[in-house]
Amino acid sequence: FETGALQGKRVVITAGPTREALDPVRYISNHSSGKMGYALAEAAAAAGARTTLVSGPVNITPPERVEVVNVTSARDMLDACESRLEECDIFIACAAVADYRPADVQEQKIKKGPDDMSLTLVKNPDIVASIAASEHAVFTVGFAAETQQVLEYARGKLERKGLDMIVANDVSSQGIGFNSDENEVTVLWPGGEVAMPRARKSTVAAGIIAQIAMRQDP
Ligand code: C5P
Repeated sequence: FETGALQGKRVVITAGPTREALDPVRYISNHSSGKMGYALAEAAAAAGARTTLVSGPVNITPPERVEVVNVTSARDMLDACESRLEECDIFIACAAVADYRPADVQEQKIKKGPDDMSLTLVKNPDIVASIAASEHAVFTVGFAAETQQVLEYARGKLERKGLDMIVANDVSSQGIGFNSDENEVTVLWPGGEVAMPRARKSTVAAGIIAQIAMRQDP
């Protein structure tokens, strides 16, 4: 991207997993490393944007010139994002949000008991869909990690969640996506799409930021 492509823009990026508590010592989560979201934050800041990372628990040193807001659960993440909406031009949802959370969080550690045990889960809010549907004019970008019919499912998600852009990747390919240092994505928007070659996440992030800079309203 051109230096300053996002000069004066305010960007909020979600990254990493969420953790959904079961009791004081246990939670449900996933293996998201946060690498892609942190790479995007670095690229957005390099393009001149005032950048905030709303981050689930990860083990990455935050990039310089990026504000980090640490959150744990999906509902914390939604609250943190919503409270920044008035100061946000571009919202990028890169986090692997847990789709469900335990219906009840036990106050005390759950004790071992019978051989079988079942958990009741309830659906978490869809953060990116909720930001896209808000009255604030925010350019909203989502991610779609798929294992089949990648572009069809991604385009469906773009429409269903009311997004301005979606970044699709095939997580069934070896060596890209979750926890990897490389990624290979296709960026889709209502009027078109562009495939990016497999590359380090920092390079892919710069390419995504360039597409966002080109397509968002001036
Ligand atoms: O529906 P799915 O989880 O595949 O959609 C992925 C996209 O939606 C990603 O951009 C992810 O960050 C976002 N998402 C979200 N809140 C959820 C679930 C997904 O923001 N509860």
